[in-house]
Amino acid sequence: PIVKELFGLSDLEEKVRQAFGLQRVVIVPGDSDQSAHVRQELGRVGARVLRESLSPGDVVAVMGGSTMFRMASQFSMPATLKDNWFVPARGGLGESVDYQANTIASELAKRAGARYRMLHVPDHLSEEAYQTMMQEPSVREVVDMIRSARIVVHGIGDAMTMARRRKLDPETMEEMRADGALAEAFGYYFDRDGKVVHRMATAGLRLEDIEAAGVVIGIAGGRSKGEAIASVLRFGHDDVLVTDEAAAEEALRHL
Ligand code: BG6
Repeated sequence: PIVKELFGLSDLEEKVRQAFGLQRVVIVPGDSDQSAHVRQELGRVGARVLRESLSPGDVVAVMGGSTMFRMASQFSMPATLKDNWFVPARGGLGESVDYQANTIASELAKRAGARYRMLHVPDHLSEEAYQTMMQEPSVREVVDMIRSARIVVHGIGDAMTMARRRKLDPETMEEMRADGALAEAFGYYFDRDGKVVHRMATAGLRLEDIEAAGVVIGIAGGRSKGEAIASVLRFGHDDVLVTDEAAAEEALRHL
């Protein structure tokens, strides 16, 4: 706390908390866009916030991405979490394997001595194939567990960056741009008002499950993500934000 006072970050935390109506905001000094050390710190503090949010018996649904990867690889618990579950929040979203939600969930579970489930549902399923998969008892069981999660942890991305990373076709990208897509989180794309303008069809957490979850934790940093963070916070279902100084300043500019 003393170090934070020196950097004045507790003021900034309080400003962001009030501006976006959050329960808790934790800010690390610096800019993730500029420094690997700051990116690592964001992951470390994100892991601590997750640890502090956990209660026995909780089901935790996690998203993918590089920020979540750095969070998971620094997660630790003082005692094993025998009756906790970690599950991927969504099926594959076209990420490389390290950054997939399945990988993050299993890593967290291993580090915590908890249990995990995988969801093996590929991207870009036809409606028919999707319905068939959802009738598979093994898939259904995991999806039901995901939808019951008390804690949801997710990253936030810039819409066009994420659309490219997920190899959306140019036509869809153009449509999204025209609709004002600015931010991406949980496979949903948001405009500046936090309105959903596009979604990816994969199994798992739906918006209503995110609304129903007890604790939603967003972890994202870097000045380039500031506007996207503001737009996801305006969607209004996050309780806790872990970010860095540059992203926090930028998010406030886009109030
Ligand atoms: C993931 C989210 O957790 O993080 C995505 O599911 C988000 O919605 C992404 O866009 C951001 O990835 P990164 O690599 O920038 O942390």
